[in-house]
Amino acid sequence: MVMALDIDRTLQFRHGATRVCVGSDLLVEAGRLCREIGGFSRALVVTDDNLAKTYAAPVREALDGAGIASDLAVVPAGEGSKSVEQAEQLYGRLADWQVGRDGLIVAVGGGMVTDLAGFVGATWLRGMATVLCPTTLEADIDAAIGGKTAINHARGKNLIGAFHHPRLVVIDTRCLETLSQRDLVSGLAESVKHAVITGESFFAWHEEQASKILDRDHDTIVSLIEQNIEIKGGFVARDEREESGVRAMLNFGHTIGHAIEAWARYRLRHGECVSLGMVAACRLSEALHLIEGDAATRIEHLLHLLGLPTVLPERVDEHAIWELLKHDKKVVKGSLRFVLIEGMGRPVLRSEVPEAAVRDAIAGLQPGPK
Ligand code: GLY
Repeated sequence: MVMALDIDRTLQFRHGATRVCVGSDLLVEAGRLCREIGGFSRALVVTDDNLAKTYAAPVREALDGAGIASDLAVVPAGEGSKSVEQAEQLYGRLADWQVGRDGLIVAVGGGMVTDLAGFVGATWLRGMATVLCPTTLEADIDAAIGGKTAINHARGKNLIGAFHHPRLVVIDTRCLETLSQRDLVSGLAESVKHAVITGESFFAWHEEQASKILDRDHDTIVSLIEQNIEIKGGFVARDEREESGVRAMLNFGHTIGHAIEAWARYRLRHGECVSLGMVAACRLSEALHLIEGDAATRIEHLLHLLGLPTVLPERVDEHAIWELLKHDKKVVKGSLRFVLIEGMGRPVLRSEVPEAAVRDAIAGLQPGPK
């Protein structure tokens, strides 16, 4: 049987290549796709406790059908599993299951699972072949592409990690059909981010296609995934290890966003925090007289149109957010680094942003009377 793939392309990077396959009902083809990228004999499939039956089971069947024996490791759903303890458990499972250099680690889940399993795959035996089967929009268009893997530390999100490209990403668009509207919308924040840092045409595409995107029209969603993969792959190819400042642009909305996420103790979705972070970054750009035209207004309007938050759900302790910000990975030489914008498609990196301006931008996200 010939697989009906909507997208089948290989992203080439200096430190590896990732084949990205997108299509409907693709999880059942995961075994065959793994076979096509190498002669693997065994795999550890990693998933969370919400997805073991629905998505990990068909992947294991598919691996079995392709002659790849698998074992299953299930971690608790939620950001708390991106921990040293869970990584340690997975190393033990890899050792027990005797996964060697002919083995695979296969992640089935959202960004938490792909980051955790990706990190274990990046570090076990100094790096083993990793396959990602993302099941959320956020993971499809961001977490699964570009080789960033990570677990969290008590001091902050993603502080422990490694760069390690997956060999294969299998995106089954059927997974998006059962995603809650909140999770779908949350994933869209990364798409808006890619549009803002890239330029007018993809941004205008979102404005025009908003209702089809929210209705999960198949062709529109495939087009959204395809454009995001191209954009993200392009940024990563130009600066794989986030050294030159190019890849750092992908952090637009993430500096204040991550601090809000940590403050909310992960009760808010990542994309919701990124949305708020983008609003704050736009306001900072205005306060520093960087931005020209109506870009900030259009960004805020699009976020609202897609159902993303532009105001915090409850009042925050602004000082607490500021303290969290200071521990962000994006502190360079003791100074916080922000991605701001001069206009659509014109992101800029700025450090030494006045503390008062940052505090004002956070205050601007507070609900109710200021
Ligand atoms: N999510 C940002 C990056 O991959 O660089």
